[in-house]
Amino acid sequence: MATETCHLYLDGTSYDFKVEGDFFWGEEELLYKEKDSVISKTSWSHQGYGVVDAFEGNEFEDLRASIEKNIIRAFEANNIPYDKDTFKLGDYHKVVTNDEMHLQVIDITRNLTNEDFDFDIDKLTDRFGKILGYPLTSWVEELQKSHIQIRINRPSSLDINPPHRDGYLSYWEDVINVWIPIEGCNEHTSLPVFPGSHLIPENEILRTGSKGATINGNTYFVPCILKTKEGDLQMIRPNPKEGEALLFSPFIIHGAAVNRSESTRISIELRLPKVKS
Ligand SMILES: [Fe+2]
Repeated sequence: MATETCHLYLDGTSYDFKVEGDFFWGEEELLYKEKDSVISKTSWSHQGYGVVDAFEGNEFEDLRASIEKNIIRAFEANNIPYDKDTFKLGDYHKVVTNDEMHLQVIDITRNLTNEDFDFDIDKLTDRFGKILGYPLTSWVEELQKSHIQIRINRPSSLDINPPHRDGYLSYWEDVINVWIPIEGCNEHTSLPVFPGSHLIPENEILRTGSKGATINGNTYFVPCILKTKEGDLQMIRPNPKEGEALLFSPFIIHGAAVNRSESTRISIELRLPKVKS
């Protein structure tokens, strides 16, 4: 296995990290299918992502409280000491002070389902379905469960995914990806995307296979995309505000959400399959 340097741009600023994996160029095919794609009816289908309003009334605060509860549950399950009265989500990195503890926490928070939240995720599912013009569900048939992931990203850490497309995994081929800012999300921390990259054919992409990329000792399910025929990845941070959500095609290249702030960044990710017609 080779160790490569992934060199990319985030809003024009370069960023490098080391990744281990076997990289190859793909076949001459376009995996994104415009016809019946879940984003095909939107005005932003050509760029592959859009920022939309997500919450009404107290919904955002309710969801936030439920996320905090899940993180605290992960502290308690791993006997990680924290102060109940003063703990704030943005100070997570002051409680979870090393990688080993962080891996224990995310082992729980990366794999949640609707049942773990006192918030009705299907309210969001219906709302996003109306925005896209296709009915959505939170049930993932191939996995036989719903999928909700809390993303915790400590300041100046390698708590990042490699740049990737979720659509390489069969169960994420026909979903809308939803990324929701919860804490500390701003222009220095927010999830980067590569606009229009869902339209790049496989023979113009250099990547690993699934479970084929390791960063800082963590092996990822998703393949790592190193670069395209055009060169280094040019990513931007759409930076949705509190109360908004970033929706994107599973074929857009996203990831490498390095946290260039002093606070822990917390977001959630949903993947909502299109209801089969
Ligand atoms: Fe992803």
